[in-house]
Amino acid sequence: MESTRQRLIKILESNRDSYLSGQELSNQLNVSRTAVWKHMKELGKDGYEIEAAPRKGYRIVAYPDKVTKNTLQWGLNTSRVGRDIFHYEQVSSTQDIAHQLAKEGYGHGTVVVADEQVKGKGRMSRAWHSKRNEGIWFSLLLKPELPPVQAPQITLLAAVVLAEAISSISDLSPQIKWPNDILINHKKIAGILTEMQAEQDQIQYIVLGIGINVNQDQSSLPEDIRHKATSLRQESGKTWEINWLIQLILETFENTYEQFIQEGFLPVKNKWEKYGYRLGQEVTISTMRKAWQATLVGIEADGALLTRTEEGIQEKLYSAEIHW
Ligand code: BTN
Repeated sequence: MESTRQRLIKILESNRDSYLSGQELSNQLNVSRTAVWKHMKELGKDGYEIEAAPRKGYRIVAYPDKVTKNTLQWGLNTSRVGRDIFHYEQVSSTQDIAHQLAKEGYGHGTVVVADEQVKGKGRMSRAWHSKRNEGIWFSLLLKPELPPVQAPQITLLAAVVLAEAISSISDLSPQIKWPNDILINHKKIAGILTEMQAEQDQIQYIVLGIGINVNQDQSSLPEDIRHKATSLRQESGKTWEINWLIQLILETFENTYEQFIQEGFLPVKNKWEKYGYRLGQEVTISTMRKAWQATLVGIEADGALLTRTEEGIQEKLYSAEIHW
């Protein structure tokens, strides 16, 4: 059951740009105006800034900048994703905690979020820089009833979710670099790490790790990656509310995931290709033995990148170096 507090935040949030009178709120929530006023005071203590304008009503002006389980859960418009949320100020890696929770029996949609990771993990055993409060570092536990061969579809889906979420709140044009880096203006802003536990024909669970550079300025990105990494702040010129962004991503994830379960991979593939980096362009591809030119065509249901040479030969790539 949703609490009055949760419903109040949802109502305020969906009317972000307008005022709601105490009477309207009391009608919608079925509580007295005094109770509305008390809830507003409590929200203030949790870091919400609520403007109360005479004769106009109430409006959320600013969200709490501190992430907690409560600030994430209040106002979160999902049914399964985020039902259980674990928030930590500092962890080694949210991935490890999510694996542990999976083993303890936590369900689909459990979220593990940290302000800081001291041993953040990237793909290919790389480190992922996850400094305090500068970005979004979380892992999502998923329990899809799917065979393991379909796991790459969920990673591609997650990339679409990030691209859609960023597009929906800014004028930026995110792109997805195969398999799943999110770029803005050719620089990486977010990455996805998928770890899976499976039996032969059934996924037991997936831990989907998402890292997004949000409020870093150029100097707080590690020097060795500065030329190829960026943050939302650098690209948009403003700072972002982490709570609100995580909620947006969880909501977008739930909707996209439900559509995927109902309708299959095609809608994900179509959206992925809309954001696909360098799709339709010719690039150089190399393996240990050879290098060749090919045009990037799209993605396949097994997660492969489809390419076509000048001679019209189509090839699916699972791993190769692409000279972007
Ligand atoms: C990559 O692009 O290499 C993937 C980066 C994934 C980083 C996230 S941050 C939250 C989660 N916890 C980790 O240790 N890694 C993932």
